[in-house]
Amino acid sequence: MNEKCFQDKCVLITGASSGIGRATALAFGAEGARVIIHYNNKEAQAAEVLSRVVSSGGSGELLQGDLSTMSGTRKLCDIVATLPVDILVNNAGSLIRRTPVLEFTENLWEQVMVLNLTSAFFLAQAVLPGMVSRQSGAVINVSSVAARNGGGIGALAYATAKAGLSTMTKGLAKEFAPKGIQVNAVSPGTVDTEYHQTFSTTAMLDSVRSATPMGRLGTSPEIAGVILFLASPAARFMQGQVVEVNGGFLMA
Ligand SMILES: NC(=O)c1ccc[n+]([C@@H]2O[C@H](COP(=O)([O-])OP(=O)(O)OC[C@H]3O[C@@H](n4cnc5c(N)ncnc54)[C@H](OP(=O)(O)O)[C@@H]3O)[C@@H](O)[C@H]2O)c1
Repeated sequence: MNEKCFQDKCVLITGASSGIGRATALAFGAEGARVIIHYNNKEAQAAEVLSRVVSSGGSGELLQGDLSTMSGTRKLCDIVATLPVDILVNNAGSLIRRTPVLEFTENLWEQVMVLNLTSAFFLAQAVLPGMVSRQSGAVINVSSVAARNGGGIGALAYATAKAGLSTMTKGLAKEFAPKGIQVNAVSPGTVDTEYHQTFSTTAMLDSVRSATPMGRLGTSPEIAGVILFLASPAARFMQGQVVEVNGGFLMA
């Protein structure tokens, strides 16, 4: 990749206050981008990401919004539709709570779906008109290995939403590739982030390590690197792909 590959490109990354989103924001910042750092609760962490983006030669701003509700999603989309977004990374996501099927409520199902799938669709809808008018742009969705294997214990709704996100990636690519826009997804395996501090036990993570040919969990920069590749000219002929990045945990 050339030096300052994303100079002055406007990149919106949802869920950029920690983990994969944070690493992606730092990587785009180091490539000279204007990075819009979305967060929900962790304002101080998001501010620290912004200051690192600026000190590495990028620029940016913070944008707060709860993407687990339709009202929060609509509010954020109204703001986002006014921004000249060149690259959208739909990264915000969560299990919210590990919950057995028989204990799922309508409300929890709705929250998981809105956060991991519906909000990504409407954010894409908010940025696509600007991309179409410029005849360029990229949307990169952050799916999950759970989309392929049904997810771990208590993660059925999350896995179902991520499978929808992977499928949505292909449908958007079909409609917008002819208009000069690229739509792809990255599908991480288990990555060492705050997500697992909240949702996984040591035993769960050990069993993933032992089922992974590389024998370890992924890191956030390893996922960010693939996101930057998908947004770069090197990936210009890729459309509707869901790139699995999981140390060999799941192949094919
Ligand atoms: N870690 C993994 O093993 C793994 C594997 C496959 C896929 N993924 C996917 O990768 C993405 C990033 O995950 P991560 O591991 O980096 O997790 P993380 O460190 O927990 O970060 C999650 C990010 O999403 C934001 N977020 C959570 N709930 C939100 C809400 N209601 N509204 C708006 N934003 C919200 C968080 O914002 P605040 O903290 O500011 O509230 C945070 O910035 C997610 O889509 C996740 O599903 C992760």
